[in-house]
Amino acid sequence: MKKYLGLGALLALSALIAVPALAGKDDKKAEAAKSEPAKAEPAKGDAAKAPEKKADDSKPCVGPDGKPCAPECCAGAPTAALAQMQATAGNKVKGTVKFVEGADGKVTVTAELEGLNPGQQHAFHVHEFGDCSAPDGASAGGHYNPGGHDHGLPEKAPQRHAGDLGNLTADKDGKAKYTVVVDNLTVGKKFAVIGRSVIVHAKTDDGGQPTGNAGGRVACGLIGVAKP
Ligand code: CU
Ligand code: ZN
Repeated sequence: MKKYLGLGALLALSALIAVPALAGKDDKKAEAAKSEPAKAEPAKGDAAKAPEKKADDSKPCVGPDGKPCAPECCAGAPTAALAQMQATAGNKVKGTVKFVEGADGKVTVTAELEGLNPGQQHAFHVHEFGDCSAPDGASAGGHYNPGGHDHGLPEKAPQRHAGDLGNLTADKDGKAKYTVVVDNLTVGKKFAVIGRSVIVHAKTDDGGQPTGNAGGRVACGLIGVAKP
């Protein structure tokens, strides 16, 4: 709100400074501007606009200070991210994980990996820190959990760690393609994945507490900004 008021004041001020001679015309402009909202009020678009505003409220934009701010402050936020997965010590898993945020605010996560255990399910999470420096991937921290929820699987627990992306299944050649759509993360707004990391585990995420009994970390990848 303050931004809108500020902008309005700025426009009014610049109009006064720039064209004092056209004060009469400005008055007419002001009258026209006044009449516009009156015309807009009876329009039927209100019902259609309401859900849009609701979606904004559920995922407010976040400014550099980490606090929610007006929607325009995240107008330039990235909507696509990419993690290049690197094997941890003693493993050979590699590949890519993409995150694409749609206009509906949902994020589609697509993983393409190789070097996995043939035929096995591997747990797949966003972890808190963008740090894959430790040989075993421990530097990435725990599951990203901004909501303070228990661990869970996407298909069973709508309220779970935001980083809980389920399991990907390796084929007989140790390759996996996996896509999951989630609504509790964003790419670059509130609960952003950029700056964190993706971890693939040795074992299956069974949904148990605290982190799904998924074993060691076989691959880690920093999540960075990608071409949209
Ligand atoms: Cu994990
Ligand atoms: Zn978890």
